[in-house]
Amino acid sequence: MKLLSVLVSMFLLGGIGYAQLLPLPIFNPLDPRFDDWQPPGPGDSRGPCPALNSLANHGFLPHSGKNITAIDIVRGTFEGLCLSPEFSVAVGVAELLKSYTLASFDLHELSNYGFIDHDCSLSRANIGDGDNNDFNETIWSVPLQVLKNYSAITPQAIGGARTARDLFDIAHNPNQECGARSIAFGALDNGLLIASLGGSPKLDWVRSVIEHERLPTNLGFTPTPLLINNSPIILTLALASLLSQPYLIEILGNTVIKMIKNPADLLAEVFPIKGYNITYITSVLSLAGFSSVNFQNFL
Ligand code: HEM
Ligand SMILES: *[C@@H]1O[C@H](CO)[C@@H](O)[C@H](O)[C@H]1NC(C)=O
Ligand SMILES: *[C@@H]1O[C@H](CO)[C@@H](O)[C@H](O)[C@H]1NC(C)=O
Ligand SMILES: *[C@@H]1O[C@H](CO)[C@@H](O)[C@H](O)[C@H]1NC(C)=O
Ligand SMILES: *[C@@H]1O[C@H](CO)[C@@H](O)[C@H](O)[C@H]1NC(C)=O
Repeated sequence: MKLLSVLVSMFLLGGIGYAQLLPLPIFNPLDPRFDDWQPPGPGDSRGPCPALNSLANHGFLPHSGKNITAIDIVRGTFEGLCLSPEFSVAVGVAELLKSYTLASFDLHELSNYGFIDHDCSLSRANIGDGDNNDFNETIWSVPLQVLKNYSAITPQAIGGARTARDLFDIAHNPNQECGARSIAFGALDNGLLIASLGGSPKLDWVRSVIEHERLPTNLGFTPTPLLINNSPIILTLALASLLSQPYLIEILGNTVIKMIKNPADLLAEVFPIKGYNITYITSVLSLAGFSSVNFQNFL
């Protein structure tokens, strides 16, 4: 029955010649790719997400950053960052599948504005200011000032750093759009970043991912398997970073952000489940090797 439904899904996914059923991936903390870091060469594609760029630099995604599918992202974020498939769907893969289905793309395409890209990133300029794809040292220097006060990066530390970035932007850039969506996604990025680096990472580890797009195994970070579904941990950290910033919430005066009180509220803001075809997403996850992901109750 299960096999039949998978075959049916494959049929429905149709037109994808190379789609094939992959085995359940395994998170292996001793995977040699953790210690193998190669910066991008000329012609390689990198995008606005420092985590996905890091995965490409370590070979968990194709090093070229090109010809990548949603399936590669789901498997690569699991193998390299131990990110649960339901969470990679919530944080971007659902949007990807909406625009691209299983067609391949290059990492730089992720900075197409309005897709997942948003204003007020920690290390990228807003789209209105030009290059919103590549690391920008000037932008990053503002939140970094705040992070430098901390030796271990807590949700409050990264929340404070992002607040500094947002306030700087609001003060200097009349056209910025640090609205509810940017703030909610920013909080989620905060949670993802610290969760994927063990929960309370050293500043140097965070700098490694943002500035060098390198998983900091050379700086003492040890990849550790997380729970099967790590969404509650990530959302709890993300929410703590947001709620530690009452001043930001106040000046934005944003009713959506004010209504976010628990992890489920935050998830609903970034991943409005009714806007997606969950049947389709579930069949893609089966192809990716995750055959029993349930979106009804994943918190
Ligand atoms: C554990 C996994 C991930 C982590 C730790 C992570 C982390 C981050 C961080 C910290 C940023 C903000 C960069 C900044 O503010 O300068 C970011 C941006 C972004 N991420 Fe990821 N990410 C992860 C997974 C994903 C996935 C699965 C996708 C799906 C395609 C994705 C797509 C993006 C995009 C498009 C942006 C740009 C958004 C913006 O304008 O700031 N990320 N990510
Ligand atoms: C893109 O990737 C697919 C699957 O990994 C592969 O079959 C195909 O040959 C690649 N295409 C190009 C142009 O590299
Ligand atoms: C970095 O961002 C600043 C502020 O938006 C901008 O003036 C500068 O041109 C950007 N630098 C690069 C290299 O894009
Ligand atoms: C952190 O450092 C910055 C600049 O060095 C300073 O203005 C700020 O008050 C410090 N404290 C916190 C909690 O950010
Ligand atoms: C959702 O996806 C399934 C499987 O691909 C498809 O059969 C169905 O028509 C889609 N539903 C909508 C509303 O697009």
